[in-house]
Amino acid sequence: MGLVLSFIKLLCLLIIQLSFLADGDGIGLNYGLVADNLPAPPQVISLVKSRNVAKIRIFEPNHGVLDALQNSGIEVIIGTLNADIANIANDPNFAKDWVQNNIVPYAPTVKIRAISLGNEVNPGDLGSMLQALKNLDNAVKATGFSIPVTTTIGVYLLASSYPPSQGDFSEAAKPGMQQVSGFLASNGYPIMVTTYPYFAYAGDPEHVPLQYALINSSDIVVKDGDLGYANLFDAMVDGVYAAMDKVGGGAVEVVVCESGWPSKGNGDFTTTTLAQTYNQNLVRHVTSSGTPRKPGNKVETYIFAIFNEDQKSPGVEQNFGLYNPDMTEVYHIDF
Ligand SMILES: *[C@@H]1O[C@H](CO)[C@@H](O)[C@H](O)[C@H]1NC(C)=O
Repeated sequence: MGLVLSFIKLLCLLIIQLSFLADGDGIGLNYGLVADNLPAPPQVISLVKSRNVAKIRIFEPNHGVLDALQNSGIEVIIGTLNADIANIANDPNFAKDWVQNNIVPYAPTVKIRAISLGNEVNPGDLGSMLQALKNLDNAVKATGFSIPVTTTIGVYLLASSYPPSQGDFSEAAKPGMQQVSGFLASNGYPIMVTTYPYFAYAGDPEHVPLQYALINSSDIVVKDGDLGYANLFDAMVDGVYAAMDKVGGGAVEVVVCESGWPSKGNGDFTTTTLAQTYNQNLVRHVTSSGTPRKPGNKVETYIFAIFNEDQKSPGVEQNFGLYNPDMTEVYHIDF
């Protein structure tokens, strides 16, 4: 009897795990390393695992982290440095070497969600982005591994985002984004976006209601045709969907590879209560529903960040972490 029960339990666990994997959504954490006092990667990966978080993002192919990820079951988005975009675009051999050094040794034992060319790329970098994406994608495909190749943009590439249906890239970004969207759409790869309601709120608290920024109320604040927005996160994501649609990328999935709220550094705008409220609401929201534009489509989202990072610019930038460097919580989040 006990054996049958444990077998059923095991089966249920397996089914839960499989359905989680198949979903492609869920919550991840950004593992930033701009600090001189962080624990070693194996400790950090154990910590992530102990929290039942199944995804992380790293900003460069740090081999210490990739070693720790081997056989961990934790999926990872691997970034390239912005400085490598031009090299990857100009030289297919540079792209090949990058893949040989950073992907080939790890792909058999580490689940790689995607490779992202750069982080919050500038419109200027978008000029060479298509060639960079193609070179890196060809290099990955030549190895036989199947890994999406994409890039990470910031919402500041949008010239307009209000109301969300008016989302549109700036004139400077548009030609590049047209090419990027075409590449992503034809391969079925997602676009990665950094999305911070905090900065919108802190930059214009007169017009951005706090509860709307915190995802902390179900009252509709912005009406947009037939759609109603109760939180700024959804409005920002749908603004990106609208902008992607206008450059031919309407079918491209938007992944929020960064969002968060600092717990310190800007007076009353940055308290642990606000940071905890935003991040807890974010977890609850993205794991339960999509955005008004795509209600059935939960947004795959990565919180920034695991740790407070002491070598970032002073102020809010150093205080986005859920954890202190000694692995104690800055505040608690349930995943
Ligand atoms: C979030 O909403 C709840 C329920 O309305 C409220 O009690 C709480 O004070 C809000 N949190 C913040 C940080 O404003």
